[in-house]
Amino acid sequence: MCGIIGFNGSVNAAPFLIDGLKKLEYRGYDSAGIAVYNGNKTVTEKRKGRISNLASAVKRRDDMCGNLGIGHTRWATHGEANDSNAHPHKSGKFTLVHNGIIENHTLLKEKYLPLCTFTSETDTETVVHLINRHYSDNCLEAIARTAKLLEGSFALAIICEDEPETIFCVKKSSPLLIGIGNEATVASDISAISCKAEKLYRMDDGEIAAVTKTQAVFYDFDLNIKEKATSQFSAERSESEKNGYEHYMLKEIFEQPEAVRKTVEAYLGNKENTLPLINKPERIFIVACGSAYHAGLVGRICIEKLTKIPVTVETASEFRYSDPLTNASTPVIVISQSGETADSLAAIRKAKENGATTFGIVNVPESSIALESDYVMYTKAGTEIAVATTKAYSAQLAALYALAIHFAQIWGTEDNTVLNNLKDALGKLHIKIREALGCEEQMREIAQQLATVQNAYFIGRGIGYALAAEASLKLKEISYIHCEAYAAGELKHGTISLIEQGTKVFAVCSPNGLEAKMQSNIDEVSARGAQVIAITDSHKTKADITVHTVSATHPLFCASTQIVPLQLLAYHTAKFRGCDIDKPRNLAKSVTVE
Ligand code: AGP
Repeated sequence: MCGIIGFNGSVNAAPFLIDGLKKLEYRGYDSAGIAVYNGNKTVTEKRKGRISNLASAVKRRDDMCGNLGIGHTRWATHGEANDSNAHPHKSGKFTLVHNGIIENHTLLKEKYLPLCTFTSETDTETVVHLINRHYSDNCLEAIARTAKLLEGSFALAIICEDEPETIFCVKKSSPLLIGIGNEATVASDISAISCKAEKLYRMDDGEIAAVTKTQAVFYDFDLNIKEKATSQFSAERSESEKNGYEHYMLKEIFEQPEAVRKTVEAYLGNKENTLPLINKPERIFIVACGSAYHAGLVGRICIEKLTKIPVTVETASEFRYSDPLTNASTPVIVISQSGETADSLAAIRKAKENGATTFGIVNVPESSIALESDYVMYTKAGTEIAVATTKAYSAQLAALYALAIHFAQIWGTEDNTVLNNLKDALGKLHIKIREALGCEEQMREIAQQLATVQNAYFIGRGIGYALAAEASLKLKEISYIHCEAYAAGELKHGTISLIEQGTKVFAVCSPNGLEAKMQSNIDEVSARGAQVIAITDSHKTKADITVHTVSATHPLFCASTQIVPLQLLAYHTAKFRGCDIDKPRNLAKSVTVE
């Protein structure tokens, strides 16, 4: 998603802005730009493509010297990726960058800016023209008047040539942080905040901040001054380095044992006392997107097995517009690594509108979803940089296992012997995940063949199907090979027509008593020419290739060990194909627009 950076200090802003944009690259983008106030005016440079293009262009400029500036990485929503649509955008004395979507920009343009000349196709440019239109001699008033007209999501950083000591920030729905030390920095997430910052502020919805070198003053949209507490720096800032791995994704795959261990440790004995004591509900909803949704599919099986409460798993984009049958007796669990996914945030709000208790299973501390949930379970995966999630997904599984055990305990739906065995198994699970990493070389060899094909299929039953869905997403999002995940028993109802000689089919055989059925499905596709690679723990199969995964400490937790070879398969396939593994095309680490 778009990234915002701002600098207000005593040294040249441009190098910090470029470096800050590089730290935001992992969010995904297709163009970038910076603007610097150089003592006379605000000068801007913006380029389609990689930040290296922008940095080269800035180097060729001799007028971009100044200590106040803003920058932006753009993930195109309104208007294609090109230089003119890139941010910053300028109008009169104002220059602005934006993360989010202004949903009423067309109406505002027609009503307030009918004669205005636009140089881009973006919704953002409407905002800077509106500010300029409202401006006479007070920046804050012009910005506040404009902010009150905007609908949608917006994090804005704004500079004005009449007030070159200040960066103005506005926040609604999209995240914005401010770091204050002997210089001030503004950023969409903590990775780009200056390491010299001594105080950190996380802006809340409906706030405007006036940020000078040494302080930030906060207002509401009516310009009432707001007292603002500082936030805790997350200790994970230092983790965002590769530590010798070629890609962040591989590093994060190998960090999974620790991510799971820390998450389990935090909740197994309910040490953080954040696992809520809620009444036994009629039904539970799990709502999420992408890999978090796939974790939810596993969570459903675990929670239903231990509590006998029906669990519905929905993608957030469907849930939020489906008029969901949620109420005070149907808690809603929203899973999100970033805690900023627009659809998942909207799902929380929708659930609360209907009176449902909301739980956030979130990885980024104090992110929007965490702050808006009634209860939050932080996964302890640490900062995850690669767009394709791995360790955060595994930590989500661990949190869901702990939550399922907790619910069974407080509702008395499972006997204590069983629950104590599960707790014991969960406490040792990270050891098995570490062992599972030992299959890397085998998966690399399989990946070498897989890298040459254009299609692949993943099939499974029960937890195996949830794993097939996640494995398929991993492979397609970083290798760009078209994949489909199918419930193995469903394949014969149509899709089997696509199986032909040499088609690659990965059969995820989980230890759930359905192994014989999976063998039948392997036979079905083999009979039609497929090359079948079975992923199984101990069970023998008649597949062309069998990958024996390490058995988890309990069958219910098998997703945590069986996903490891599938993640490594995706990683090495993408590597053989020369793909941009940590920053796949078209993707963003946090999808903050719907
Ligand atoms: C997973 O590898 C993808 N990057 C994507 O599907 C991701 O899981 C999804 O966008 C949800 O993100 P969140 O967990 O931050 O809400």
